[in-house]
Parts: sequence; structure tokens; C-alpha cells
Amino acid sequence: MERDRFIKPLRTIGAAATSLPAREFSPAEKERWRSVILGIYQKMRAKRRPYEIQCGDVCLTVLPNVYAPKFFTDSEWFAHQLPAIVGTGSLLEIGTGTGIIAIFCARNGAHVVATDINPDAVKNARINAARHHLNISVREGNLYEPIEPDEKFGFIFWAHPFNNWETPVQDMLLRSGMDYHYEGLKGYIAGAKKHLDHNGKLLLGTGDSADLKTIASLAKENGYSLKLLRETATSLEEEGNNMIKYLLYEFAPH
Ligand SMILES: C[S@@+](CC[C@H](N)C(=O)[O-])C[C@H]1O[C@@H](n2cnc3c(N)ncnc32)[C@H](O)[C@@H]1O
Repeated sequence: MERDRFIKPLRTIGAAATSLPAREFSPAEKERWRSVILGIYQKMRAKRRPYEIQCGDVCLTVLPNVYAPKFFTDSEWFAHQLPAIVGTGSLLEIGTGTGIIAIFCARNGAHVVATDINPDAVKNARINAARHHLNISVREGNLYEPIEPDEKFGFIFWAHPFNNWETPVQDMLLRSGMDYHYEGLKGYIAGAKKHLDHNGKLLLGTGDSADLKTIASLAKENGYSLKLLRETATSLEEEGNNMIKYLLYEFAPH
């Protein structure tokens, strides 16, 4: 299967929600999709010891309780897209997990600061950065909390939890996939301007199973349009029949 499909010229998506590549799930399909996602999380949770995964030519350690690129295919795709976009600029990656995306960018020459709310992910990303001799500052905290007020970046990126969840999520592993009323995403978009360089770019890694209508509204409320930079249609897991489209957006100021 062709995994990477690039779109040129880029499409800009404003308020017209009908042009979004969101999936129209029927209630039954939504229920089924959610049970597939929760099933994958169960497999991830079953890992009780650190383990190794191979992502392209990069070998990574994964600690238990950390979002693992082994189970969903999104991390590796985003990790392959971001270096060409960020180049040797500066990147703030929110929610770094194992550090896979930060590592792909740093080894391409970017200056990277990475954060995560999950203490196990912070520990994990530090292990992987050290393992690959990369100078990545990995910090623990909610969104921009661990960033100094005067720290600014050329790019800010988050492969965010796709699911706009109706109930509060305390569990750290599940918080990588479920965001209560998109509170995290709202803070991510609203807080970015303070930490972007003059021409800095706010990016988002998402999917067609996410609540793209709400994402487009949040973009608009904050003075942005969504510009689709890259997309691919692929399998949700390494093996299996569940398909997903991954989308890489830039929030383009009006
Ligand atoms: C979908 S996972 C992506 C992890 C990693 N970037 C990757 O692609 O494998 C989302 C990550 O965001 C983190 N996260 C969730 N809410 C957060 C928040 N409010 N602030 C910082 N990180 C958060 C999760 O712990 C998780 O590591």
C-alpha cells in the first residue's frame, strides 16, 4: 500500500466544515470505532516491562504506560513528515511520548524542546534522546506550563489525542488518546502565540476520526484557518483492516 501521499498545492480550510475530510460516523460505527481504539489501548497497557521498537532506522525504548508507536501507525508517519517541515529550525513538541517525533527532528538538525504531561513519557523520551546522543530538552507538565515565558519557537507541534471525550480522563495512558471536551487542544491553540517566533508556525497532527468540525471552529475562534500540509490514508494498526487518514495541519493566521 502507498503510505505517503502528499498534497500540492495545499488546501486551506476555513469555516466551511463540509470541506473537512472528517468521517461521518453513524452512532453504531462510532461505538465500534471506540471499542477498536480501547482494545488497542488494552494491548498497550498489557506491556508491563520496557520493550524495544524499530521505527524506520531508529530503535526506541518504550516504557510501560507510554503511548507506543508500535500499536498505532500515526507516530511513525508524523515522525517521517516533520523533519522536512521543521528543517534545522526550532521546534516545541507538546506530548512527545517516547520522543519519536522529537528525535527524528533533532537528528535532522532541529533545536528541539519536548514536553509531556505523563511523567513516564518524560522519562522515556529522555532515555531515547540520550540513547541517540541528541540534545533534546524534555520537560514535564501540562501544555506550555514547563516553557519559560520568553521561550519562542519556529514551530510548535502536537500529535494530539484525537478523541473529543465526554468524560474526564485521569489515566495517563488513556490521556494520550482521549481529551476531555478537547480542553487540552483548546489550551494548545490558545497558548501558542506567546511561544511562536514572529513568523512561527503552529502545527497539529490529527486524523479523520478526530472531531475536525470542532478543531476548525477552535482555529477560527483563535484567528486561524486550517491549512492541510500532508495527508495519508493507511491502516490504523500495523496489521488489520481498520483504515484511517492522518492529517498534518498548519494553523494559518487570517
Ligand atoms: C497521541 S500521543 C502522541 C505521543 C508521541 N508524540 C507520538 O507520536 O508517539 C499524545 C501525547 O500527548 C500527551 N498529552 C496529553 N495531554 C497532554 C497535555 N495536556 N499536555 C502535555 N502532553 C499531553 C500524552 O501523554 C501523549 O504522550
